Amino acid sequence: MSENSLNPEEKGQEEKEKQAHAPAEYRGRKEQRLKPLYPKPQQTTLQCIHDRSLKAVVIGLGYVGLPMAVEMAQSGYRVHGIDIDAGKVAKLRAGHSYIIGIEDEVLQTLLEANLLTAGTDYAAVADADVIVICVPTPLTNAHQPDISYISSAVGGMTPYLQLGSLVILESTTYPGTTEEHVKQPVEAARGWTAGEHFYVCYSPERVDPGSVHYGVKNTPKIIGGSTPACLSYGTQFYGSFLNEVVPVSSTTVAETAKLFENTFRSVNIALVNELTPACEQMGVDIWEVLQAAATKPFGYMPFYPGPGIGGHCIPIDPIYLSWAANRQGSELRFIELADATNRQMPQHVVQRAAALLEQRGHSIRGARVVLAGMAYKKDIDDLRESPALDVFRLLSAAGADVVFTDPMVPVFRQDDGSMLQSRPASPELWTWADLVIITTDHTAFDYQEMADHAPLIFDTRNATAGCRGDNIVVLGQPERQDRGTKKEDFQNTEHEAAGLEGHNNSGQVTREGDSAGSDVKGQREKYPDTKHECVPSGESSENENGESYGSQDAAWADQDVKKMHGKTGDNYGES
Ligand SMILES: NC(=O)c1ccc[n+]([C@@H]2O[C@H](COP(=O)([O-])OP(=O)(O)OC[C@H]3O[C@@H](n4cnc5c(N)ncnc54)[C@H](O)[C@@H]3O)[C@@H](O)[C@H]2O)c1
Repeated sequence: MSENSLNPEEKGQEEKEKQAHAPAEYRGRKEQRLKPLYPKPQQTTLQCIHDRSLKAVVIGLGYVGLPMAVEMAQSGYRVHGIDIDAGKVAKLRAGHSYIIGIEDEVLQTLLEANLLTAGTDYAAVADADVIVICVPTPLTNAHQPDISYISSAVGGMTPYLQLGSLVILESTTYPGTTEEHVKQPVEAARGWTAGEHFYVCYSPERVDPGSVHYGVKNTPKIIGGSTPACLSYGTQFYGSFLNEVVPVSSTTVAETAKLFENTFRSVNIALVNELTPACEQMGVDIWEVLQAAATKPFGYMPFYPGPGIGGHCIPIDPIYLSWAANRQGSELRFIELADATNRQMPQHVVQRAAALLEQRGHSIRGARVVLAGMAYKKDIDDLRESPALDVFRLLSAAGADVVFTDPMVPVFRQDDGSMLQSRPASPELWTWADLVIITTDHTAFDYQEMADHAPLIFDTRNATAGCRGDNIVVLGQPERQDRGTKKEDFQNTEHEAAGLEGHNNSGQVTREGDSAGSDVKGQREKYPDTKHECVPSGESSENENGESYGSQDAAWADQDVKKMHGKTGDNYGES
């Protein structure tokens, strides 16, 4: 049985037995190491964990920090969240969730029980036993790791740290960050030694936004400590409220493991993305190829093509790994090639869209194009690094009249600062368009209705599998393929790549003739002129940080295209 699977009493007993048999000079040592120098000396770490008197602070209450804070609070710990975004703090205090998957009722229950509180002031760290850092780690304009948020969080908390406290970094970052930018600055500022006066761990967050299968609690938690005592404390802490903790020998191993997981995905997505145009040219249906390959019960893991890679992980984490290797003189060529290949996909989508329009007598200049889905992934509201943003930008630059519809994203900020609002998905919208491009395969879209009314659909996610209509072209498929394989026939795999699931062989549907033609003509005139209904900047509101947003929720308004891409004007692809 592993040490971690013992309950606190069993662990205590085991420790006593070990101590009884230890040479005299070692007796009492481990016990001392495990007992932080608390301001409350009567309480040992184990007692604090066991009776839930331990208090935690989470710094950064975003997609990662808020779910972690809620999980801790639900297990009985008193948790205080710190965020520099006063708007988020205000919402949280009012019991309003801004993260999908966290319900308002859950927040309200925790707030009422005083298990969850929030603020903007780092002074709250003075009352904490454990501090968990979940701040962003984007790329700089020069495409290099930007750990300034980590440094700012460490700088903010350090003056308030108490002797014996445990600091855990969860932000994804390059190997060496925890030692260089958490442990050493605290040691230098406070004159302390990690493992004696305070404790330091790195534990990557592996949350899969939108997943109904894996959340904070049931995703195994990797953890590395700066010293064995740090690891022991961190392992006991996470082990007290998560299903499985995976201790590793160092913080750098934990940091590298997280980067490798996402690099593995980036490289495999790139492989299939590279094959996609080749299959189109060879007249081979890539979806059928992948479906066939996925029947191999061993040694194969399915990944699927898409319009690019997105989110805060796949487009960014491999760059952190390659940067860290480069500074030691190593070159990771797969990462660079995968990155370039994946970033090429929005351009491929737009080129293919232009060719499809041209075949039907339209120039892309002036063509009416609807992007169905702006979020980077199915059924979530996250626009960060979304490939749809690049598709949008490239289409606009080519002179197309582009609008979007997304049930999860009501509004986004364009490069010029204006806000563009989502159109309701409706027969009128589909009919208005010369071309609908499916960029995100949200469950809420009625794909058959879309197929019945749009004159032409370019589906970059194979979301229309099973739909009737010869007006559908799928990325990676030669034109006019039978749309027989139903989306529902795809098996879920834990290795979703471009937001799609694995598939099996059943469910062929015979295609019927396209009956939409006459309807389409009739309805095209009904949809009113669709020049962009932007929120003029003069009508914008401001949040408490002075960031402007439209009449919609600030959570979406914050998703500034320029900011989220780290740089503008680039073909910054994703999946
Ligand atoms: N989102 C994901 O799917 C995901 C998954 C795994 C790991 N990660 C990693 O987790 C980390 C956080 O990502 P996220 O998606 O939660 O980001 P996020 O932008 O959603 O949230 C980060 C929060 O930190 C706050 N913040 C920034 N600087 C701060 C400071 N100095 N003090 C206090 N608060 C501060 C921001 O206001 C924001 O609310 C990143 O390193 C990311 O790579 C993200």
